Amino acid sequence: MSCCRQCEGLENMFDGEIAAEDLADYRENGPAHETRIMLDVLRRHDLNGLTLLDIGGGVGVIQHELFAAGIASAVDVDASTAYLRTARQEAERRGTAERTQFQHGDFVALAEQIEPADIVTLDRVICCYPDVQAMVRLSAARARRFYAFVFPRDLFYLRWAQRVADVFLWLTRNKYRFYIHPSREVDSILQADGLRPHFHKNTGLFWQVRVYVRE
Ligand SMILES: C[S@@+](CC[C@H](N)C(=O)[O-])C[C@H]1O[C@@H](n2cnc3c(N)ncnc32)[C@H](O)[C@@H]1O
Repeated sequence: MSCCRQCEGLENMFDGEIAAEDLADYRENGPAHETRIMLDVLRRHDLNGLTLLDIGGGVGVIQHELFAAGIASAVDVDASTAYLRTARQEAERRGTAERTQFQHGDFVALAEQIEPADIVTLDRVICCYPDVQAMVRLSAARARRFYAFVFPRDLFYLRWAQRVADVFLWLTRNKYRFYIHPSREVDSILQADGLRPHFHKNTGLFWQVRVYVRE
């Protein structure tokens, strides 16, 4: 990424072991709390026949859940080989792999080759990318109807936590970094692209869930 270093960090951070743990957790407990909130907001709408672009889909929770809600097809772009492989295996098991395109790499670098979709989701992904302008602008431009994301709250103690984490990651030679991007900046990129706020909920001390719609 602007991403070379961060992509290497993502490959190491989200490896086969993490992917196997996440899949086991999903099979046992269903989607994470914030993901479930985001999915519930989307499922209030008729999703039959819609297309999904899930950026940084992890083990594919959003795809698996939205196929059950009637979407027609999905594209999963992920910088982690292990996550992408696990998402594909789970899609094969569920019979949705043929309707899903799996693409490995940095979404920002691949964006021009990726078709717009009715629903674009980024669940805990924007905080993995250094260039918030590029990530949000290019992903928003691909959202025909809904743009939904889970993202850290923009609070001073999280910015401090990020700095402490950066030092720890640097000391342990880990190339992965996470970022607390300003919520106002994300909101203004989305609104400039014609997306309107539809839903916003803070959950606990860390995360927020936001859904935008194109009117
Ligand atoms: C914290 S994990 C979240 C995974 C999943 N969405 C979830 O909530 O369980 C972040 C995911 O975003 C992916 N990711 C981060 N930056 C990316 C980028 N620029 N392009 C593609 N995938 C990216 C990572 O590889 C990883 O799968």
